[in-house]
Amino acid sequence: MLAGKRILLIIGGGIAAYKSLELIRRLKERGAAVTPVLTRAAQEFVTPLSVSALAGEKAYTDLFDLTDEAEMGHINLSRVADLIVVAPATADLMAKMAGGHADDLASTLLMATDTPVMIAPAMNVRMWEHAATRRNLATLKGDGIRVVGPDKGDMACGEFGPGRMAEPGEIVEAVQAALTDGPLKGKRILVTSGPTHEPIDPVRYIANRSSGAQGTAIAAALASLGAEVVFITGPADTPPPEGVDVIAVQSAAQMLEAVESALPVNAGVFAAAVADWRVKRESGSKIKKQDGELPVLEFAENPDILAQVSAMKAGRPRLVVGFAAETDDVIANATAKRKRKGCDWILANDVSPETGIMGGEENAVHLISESGVEDWPRMGKSEVARKLAERIAQALA
Ligand code: CTP
Repeated sequence: MLAGKRILLIIGGGIAAYKSLELIRRLKERGAAVTPVLTRAAQEFVTPLSVSALAGEKAYTDLFDLTDEAEMGHINLSRVADLIVVAPATADLMAKMAGGHADDLASTLLMATDTPVMIAPAMNVRMWEHAATRRNLATLKGDGIRVVGPDKGDMACGEFGPGRMAEPGEIVEAVQAALTDGPLKGKRILVTSGPTHEPIDPVRYIANRSSGAQGTAIAAALASLGAEVVFITGPADTPPPEGVDVIAVQSAAQMLEAVESALPVNAGVFAAAVADWRVKRESGSKIKKQDGELPVLEFAENPDILAQVSAMKAGRPRLVVGFAAETDDVIANATAKRKRKGCDWILANDVSPETGIMGGEENAVHLISESGVEDWPRMGKSEVARKLAERIAQALA
């Protein structure tokens, strides 16, 4: 619930501005108070009247309509909120934020505030992928700004891809997570999860049996302790938890790229079952059966994401946690794996088929660190997640 919380909602000028009406309704339903601010461009898409009617409060539109300055100057306006949400955050608004501009009410509020800020980007695919937006996004993340979405899908401009604003329900969950108090408040943690799919041709791929259940439970447990969670997931059966920033990928190479762009983080939990190998030359068209001949696949080794992050010289997360899925000599193999990969902790589990752990509800893990081995009893994956999240909170305190 968001009772007693105040959200300053800055509505940017994009077609997704229409979703801000639904967002206001949902935030109010959860008990939040919403103070709306519209940029000049936003007013081309939604009217201050409809925004204000839904919010039940004055909608601010201009730096100089703060005659109001006497009662609620822009400095105050930016500080009374528990959270500032920018939705939609257009490419232009993101650029202004990254550049520190303050030439209208919205950008001035964002410059003047000491309140946490969350953005829900929305723009055309090309604009989202443009090098300038990539740079601005990295700057904003580095400044500690939370990002929700964008989603992938059909866009109003007729194109398809990432750039569509996150749905109001997703934004509300992210708001809820951002305002959750807990020992991990203010900490940004990345979690990798699920299998990866390594393409052979447009219709075939190599995969593994990871369901993503353990990684998903860890992300949820970290969020419930107040962490900002970046959840980077391969194609898993388990749906991602609510209130986390979900980045969906297919292959190990894409997972590595997503991890690199999620940095910096305070901690990283690498729960994904990353494929060790990929097919060296992915065929652009479907490989056809040929009489008397079997296809020969040549493999290349995938990057080891955990090892790469562990070995970072600058900007290494303070705590790096890996998993070791073993079928024999679990502790010895996992202890050696921790050293080899350079991570701080490794959670070792026995994934032999008779344990029913891979794809199952339970897990039996050993937490291996520099100081030794701790055996945890067999328990539900969500309990393992809770226990791990608590340990991470202690380690980052
Ligand atoms: N991992 C990774 N990138 C890879 C392979 C593994 O980030 N390319 C991470 C996993 O997320 C996990 C840890 O490394 O946290 C160990 O994964 P595991 O599959 O147990 O180890 P492997 O490196 O595959 O070692 P082996 O196959 O020899 O057991």
